[in-house]
Amino acid sequence: MRLLVVGANGLLGSNVVTVSQDRDIDVVGTYHSTKPSFDIPLTKFDIQNTQQFDELLNHYTPDAVINCAAMTDVDACEENSEQAYAVNCDAPRALAERCAKHDVDFVHVSTDYVFDGTTASPYTEAATPSPLQVYGGSKRKGEKEVIAVNKETLITRLSFVYGIHGDTNELTGFPAWVRNRLKNGEQTPLFTDQRITPTRAGQAAKTLIELLTAKRTGLYHVACRSCITPYKFGTQIRDRLNIQEELLSEGSQDDVDRSAARPSYTCLDVSKVEESLNRLQPTLEAELNEIEDAVF
Ligand SMILES: NC(=O)c1ccc[n+]([C@@H]2O[C@H](COP(=O)([O-])OP(=O)(O)OC[C@H]3O[C@@H](n4cnc5c(N)ncnc54)[C@H](OP(=O)(O)O)[C@@H]3O)[C@@H](O)[C@H]2O)c1
Repeated sequence: MRLLVVGANGLLGSNVVTVSQDRDIDVVGTYHSTKPSFDIPLTKFDIQNTQQFDELLNHYTPDAVINCAAMTDVDACEENSEQAYAVNCDAPRALAERCAKHDVDFVHVSTDYVFDGTTASPYTEAATPSPLQVYGGSKRKGEKEVIAVNKETLITRLSFVYGIHGDTNELTGFPAWVRNRLKNGEQTPLFTDQRITPTRAGQAAKTLIELLTAKRTGLYHVACRSCITPYKFGTQIRDRLNIQEELLSEGSQDDVDRSAARPSYTCLDVSKVEESLNRLQPTLEAELNEIEDAVF
């Protein structure tokens, strides 16, 4: 299989590249502003350039495209909604439509932020989305439009993504932020009024490729099995760092001033992907064990 990864320098995209290489998949990619150092064919590409996407399909003739590119800064989306909808909705719709025309499998990635958080049990794929902010709104509209133009699309919703970047090998996301602050001896308040099911990018990349290889289509939630607060997540990081001083404290989302509203509960139910692949998704503890040697 030849796979085209759109957004190969992102956290998820770079992991899709390395997982593909491990599995002897013929992988090519695109990047936006920074070219990763992967030894694979790479093309600079803005996802909004539909004409160039046609040229990429003709040039690389992939069997499948995984779209890992997105405007992921939630507050920046709030401040520039036009750009958010262009990148997270209009552009993926055009990619999905072109893939359908060329008979190329298409995988799109979405978010737990399509939900408003007014629940107390993990969201299944059947739950009704109701985004609170522009980011979630643009991603939800993207989901609907991608499916409307390409019924065979596989859409995976992730939650609170972190992990080791596939190219730079650097820990990225929430654990990196917490680790760096604790190592610097900084007091670190973490939310106790938010619950999430963190997704490790390396695990998500494997799962996406397994779903694609199994020819699954439709909507799948891809996250870990542990529904926790950022505070609890932080304590798991602290416990691995062997730092004696207590630097973590309990904080609230109300304590920070941000442009975009955040849902307080976006845990994802992962039963569907587990049943589909006939294996369990990992717990957060198991995920941190996976990266312990590399980063703690
Ligand atoms: N991060 C999370 O917590 C989270 C949670 C749930 C779902 N997701 C979803 O997971 C997917 C992957 O996100 P990630 O965590 O890997 O984010 P990421 O590291 O920010 O990667 C996003 C990539 O998109 C690229 N990009 C942005 N604008 C582009 C454009 N106009 N044209 C082409 N590429 C563009 C960025 O390139 P430049 O940096 O060069 O612009 C970046 O490489 C996204 O669909 C996101 O919505 C993320």
